[in-house]
Amino acid sequence: MTIVTCVAPVNMAVIKYWGKRNEDLILPLNDSISATFNVEYMRAKTTVMASPTFKENKIWLNGKEESFENPRLLHCMKELKQRAQKGNDVINWNIHVCSENNFPTAAGLASSAAGYACFVYAVAQLYAVEGDITGIARKGSGSACRSISGGWVQWHMGHLNDGSDSIATQFASVSHWTEMRILTLVVNDNRKKYSSTVGMRRSTATSSFLKHRADSVVTERVLNIIKAIKEKDFKTFAEITMRDSNQFHAICLDTFPPFMYLNSVSMTIIELIHAYNDFYGTPKVAYTFDAGPNACLFLLEADVPEVVALIQHIFPSDVAPVEYFKGIPVHHQNLSQELKAKIDIPKQNKGLIKYIFQTDVGEGAQVVKDENEHLLNESGIPK
Ligand code: DP6
Repeated sequence: MTIVTCVAPVNMAVIKYWGKRNEDLILPLNDSISATFNVEYMRAKTTVMASPTFKENKIWLNGKEESFENPRLLHCMKELKQRAQKGNDVINWNIHVCSENNFPTAAGLASSAAGYACFVYAVAQLYAVEGDITGIARKGSGSACRSISGGWVQWHMGHLNDGSDSIATQFASVSHWTEMRILTLVVNDNRKKYSSTVGMRRSTATSSFLKHRADSVVTERVLNIIKAIKEKDFKTFAEITMRDSNQFHAICLDTFPPFMYLNSVSMTIIELIHAYNDFYGTPKVAYTFDAGPNACLFLLEADVPEVVALIQHIFPSDVAPVEYFKGIPVHHQNLSQELKAKIDIPKQNKGLIKYIFQTDVGEGAQVVKDENEHLLNESGIPK
């Protein structure tokens, strides 16, 4: 019997991945760039156990047993076995996998990225796989390849037909821009949403704007945002981030039939951030939205108290602070009358934002050394 437990972080793209040139190998139409969230606050945790006594492969996700016969999971397993150290008997044994997120899956935060990154990282430990594993995580879910490393990460689209050059690499470490904070505003929304996989398949088939983006926009944006991050040039970073999010959502509308991930609360948040940036005459906050209505705001640590006070002013809530604020604690600040007077956005109905999660940029996937942290007991059953 052999067992390992790992954690892997969520990542948030500032240059979006949207569209595949190869569905089986999960090869993207363009490079993408992301920040890795601190694993302490938002992460997947996965225990993998292998034993010659296990009759079949089994997997439990967030407390529920799921089928192992998932093509993406099997694809990752096949690759991991091919890359395993020769003579390692463990690869012939069945495995039990138990995985959980410490944030609500329903919050629409990138759970599949953290989940697949963690699964691949953990099995790679068990099989003593050496070298790059981001290309294997990519086959679970494209964005998962960016959750293996910490700091600021680039997923290179690659050009080879077999996808072997479509990997993710770190270009700035965790310690590079320590003032950066990310606020996730979790928005109430009960609509059924299209999964990223389905949405991007449809965009790839029908949106000419997506083709234009991949052919003529992203390459330059990637170079410019990497430079901005390396130089800690918040203004350029913020403008590119917001434009890229807007372009992704414009592509969703250009898809036929169209779909929309943003709702009216998301749109009000966008207006609010632009009004706030206008007040200062320079971008202080950058928003970005994935395949859902929740806003992700990038800003510097010193600006967090005022921005949070502004959000609470426009989006009132009855929720107690212990429930409303998650992650890194937020210091209270009163809003200046001048700022209140200049922000021309009406106070919204109560409860439109469920809670705010503050995090910073963190390290990538890691092994958890404490044996008490295993999610499976000695018989390979969830604890
Ligand atoms: C909007 O990685 O979830 O979050 O590769 O089909 O599993 P699949 O898609 P997924 O797509 C993520 C799309 C996005 C943008 C991004 O993270 O770059």
